[in-house]
Amino acid sequence: MMRPKWYQALVGGVIWTLGLVFLGFRLYVYYSRWNNDRGISIFDGHLPPVPQYQDTDNASQNPSTSDAELSKPLQDSTQEDIVDKPSVPRPTATGPTGEWSLAWNNKSIWPDWSSTSPTPNGASKSLPTYSISHEELYRYVHSIMHFNDEWPFERVSCPSGMGSRYDKLRGDTDGSGKARYFFALNLLDAADALPRLMSTIIETIKYLGPERCAISIVDGGSQDGTWEILTVIKSRIDDLGAQFFLATSRDGSNDAQSGQNATLADLRNQVLEPLKAKDVEPTHSLSSVYSSDAVVIFLDDIAVCPEDILELVFQHVNQGAQMTCAFDWVLNGTVFHDVWESRSLAGNTFFEVPHDGSLTHSKDMFFDDAPNKRRYKKFQPLQVYSCWGGMVTLNATSFAEDTVKFRATEQTDSDCYMGESMLLAKDLFSQGLGKILAVPSVNVAYSDDEATETKRIRGYVSDHINNDISELDAKEIVQWQQDPPELVKCLPLSEQVAWTEWIQSV
Ligand SMILES: *[C@@H]1O[C@H](CO)[C@@H](O)[C@H](O)[C@H]1NC(C)=O
Ligand SMILES: *[C@@H]1O[C@H](CO)[C@@H](O)[C@H](O)[C@H]1NC(C)=O
Ligand SMILES: *[C@@H]1O[C@H](CO)[C@@H](O)[C@H](O)[C@H]1NC(C)=O
Ligand SMILES: *[C@@H]1O[C@H](CO)[C@@H](O)[C@H](O)[C@H]1NC(C)=O
Ligand SMILES: *[C@@H]1O[C@H](CO)[C@@H](O)[C@H](O)[C@H]1NC(C)=O
Repeated sequence: MMRPKWYQALVGGVIWTLGLVFLGFRLYVYYSRWNNDRGISIFDGHLPPVPQYQDTDNASQNPSTSDAELSKPLQDSTQEDIVDKPSVPRPTATGPTGEWSLAWNNKSIWPDWSSTSPTPNGASKSLPTYSISHEELYRYVHSIMHFNDEWPFERVSCPSGMGSRYDKLRGDTDGSGKARYFFALNLLDAADALPRLMSTIIETIKYLGPERCAISIVDGGSQDGTWEILTVIKSRIDDLGAQFFLATSRDGSNDAQSGQNATLADLRNQVLEPLKAKDVEPTHSLSSVYSSDAVVIFLDDIAVCPEDILELVFQHVNQGAQMTCAFDWVLNGTVFHDVWESRSLAGNTFFEVPHDGSLTHSKDMFFDDAPNKRRYKKFQPLQVYSCWGGMVTLNATSFAEDTVKFRATEQTDSDCYMGESMLLAKDLFSQGLGKILAVPSVNVAYSDDEATETKRIRGYVSDHINNDISELDAKEIVQWQQDPPELVKCLPLSEQVAWTEWIQSV
């Protein structure tokens, strides 16, 4: 009597299982396809000419593996020809012993970065340390110079093709021949971030025109190989024709601790030093190397795609902004990170931070700024009081001329602690320069895994904008408000939340 039922249950179970397996498989295929669609090669056919490279370098495969997959030819050789130009000895099978180690310690193999791009005054130099093996160094450099290569680091994938949206940012459009884009980075122990970060910067520089670009990096005394990697990358970027200023805030002659008193504000100002004219009076002026409309692109150690940088610059330039910020996310793209530094035009944090510091309200962005909440939800740029968001663009002239600079909060001021960005916002608004913009279509994170999730949830730039239209859409254009909010929320160093009058703060 039980048999038919048993069979029925069995057959039903099998059918269900097959159904689920099939569904799972479809989802997997769909997901893989979706992933693959994004980011194979970018900027097809639009790259500026690059120096030729003789492919005689046999070490361009992983020296420690014989996996055939790794030795396959690179997909698009026309875009690979500047890479792997030997400037330091390659790792050999013998590893960090013998000949190679001796070579490593021979400082003359390192690029002479003091001669090609002068290091700004006041920045000290030191020779590379031995905090990373040659194999490791090689992996990082390989990854950075191969934008699309998944070996040896898996990175957040970046979409292909830029459309024509950013055409006007490229090349020598104003005929001045001067540099227009100044990438500024303060890094400390950021080796994990470098494969995507530096790769994206190089790809963006190639797109914009290397002779129109400069990079300035101040390393805070990294012990994880960041300095060594950057030293090698510097030579590659010099070869491309972009300026590269590399300095350390650490005093090279003494112990590693001596530079650590410097505040974040000091470090940010230091990285902008090369913008300033050095040998001419007045010294409060933009160096003649840079065009008058030069843009500073400040990047934290984020995972970022070229379109993120380009869209931020595009918005900055076309909206006539003084400062333009991305949105940075933590917890897999679910919580806005820079809440302490950011205030909406209502003077409030982007989301409500209760006194216990919980994330209960983190989904309710721009909760008390209704017009801008609507813009945020449609991924349209919006004016804010202050922001940072992992990446910002700034008017270079204002900083070169000392109209504004980064300031640090006095530690005694813990009743109303204001970070560097909030002090900057205050200074900008007080001079009528409060055109500060946040761009919700640009979403970044602090690791490749987190960035992958963030892009999945919040989308890529190209999911939100039509990248064939090189003008701002009427709906995108921001109506600038001149005056700052009357009140700006203070978040004291203690967890208490207080309000204070804007004009009295600090
Ligand atoms: C590179 O390897 C090929 C064979 O794999 C060899 O014929 C060639 O001589 C090598 N070149 C150098 C510079 O070692
Ligand atoms: C260091 O390297 C340079 C260039 O390869 C070479 O001329 C020099 O002899 C080397 N010095 C030592 C001490 O090995
Ligand atoms: C750094 O801080 C220490 C104490 O914290 C102080 O003694 C030293 O003078 C400071 N150095 C600089 C360069 O400010
Ligand atoms: C983020 O997502 C990844 C992959 O889905 C997961 O492994 C990880 O645990 C998540 N992290 C957090 C903080 O939710
Ligand atoms: C940059 O700021 C200066 C004032 O510091 C201003 O004169 C100039 O017009 C600004 N540039 C742009 C492109 O907005």
